[in-house]
Amino acid sequence: MTEIRLHLSVRGLTDADLPSCGWAGSPKHVRELVHQIRRAEAGEIDYLAVCTPAGLPVALGGIDYTVRPGAGTLWQLGVHPALQSCGIGTLLVRSAEQRITARGLTRAELGVEESNPRARALYERLGYRAFGRELDSWDVEAEDGSFQRYETMCTLMRKHLA
Ligand SMILES: CC(C)(COP(=O)(O)OP(=O)(O)OC[C@H]1O[C@@H](n2cnc3c(N)ncnc32)[C@H](O)[C@@H]1OP(=O)(O)O)[C@@H](O)C(=O)NCCC(=O)NCCS
Repeated sequence: MTEIRLHLSVRGLTDADLPSCGWAGSPKHVRELVHQIRRAEAGEIDYLAVCTPAGLPVALGGIDYTVRPGAGTLWQLGVHPALQSCGIGTLLVRSAEQRITARGLTRAELGVEESNPRARALYERLGYRAFGRELDSWDVEAEDGSFQRYETMCTLMRKHLA
């Protein structure tokens, strides 16, 4: 195995990034990122892109400041499948925490699906602790373009930021 160094930068997602975000989810999900960029411009959320030196995003994640007063809620965290388990998710979470503290807030929260123990283990390693459960649901686009409601139980986790 060969080890290489990769210099990554973290910045806000832009409209110009969207053609390079196909890996992040369904076509519907990528279309809705336009809406998230507008929300970020309005200050309601931050939406981060971790980028390679070529400027291409390899990880995305949002922080919503409207879900719970006094907290930044991490959501839609994802690393390009080809680059998972290299530490990029850790970088993304730490960068999100910096955005939250830059707003003068001291709490980060997130929900992780009970069917995703790997992601939960990562958040626990980074200092998040479970404090509840919540049913979440969203529309999933089928190949024929129809939509089905997907329901999933999530563990709610939080971390106090120094
Ligand atoms: C969950 C997710 C965001 C984590 O991102 P990631 O880049 O894979 O996470 P990290 O690499 O920082 O840490 C996870 C793993 O890498 C290992 N790791 C961390 N830093 C590392 C480093 N510097 N070098 C090598 N391995 C490292 C950890 O031990 C961990 O091991 P695991 O793969 O056995 O769990 C990503 O895997 C993903 O997009 N998954 C699919 C979508 C998803 O589940 N999103 C979360 C919704 S809540």
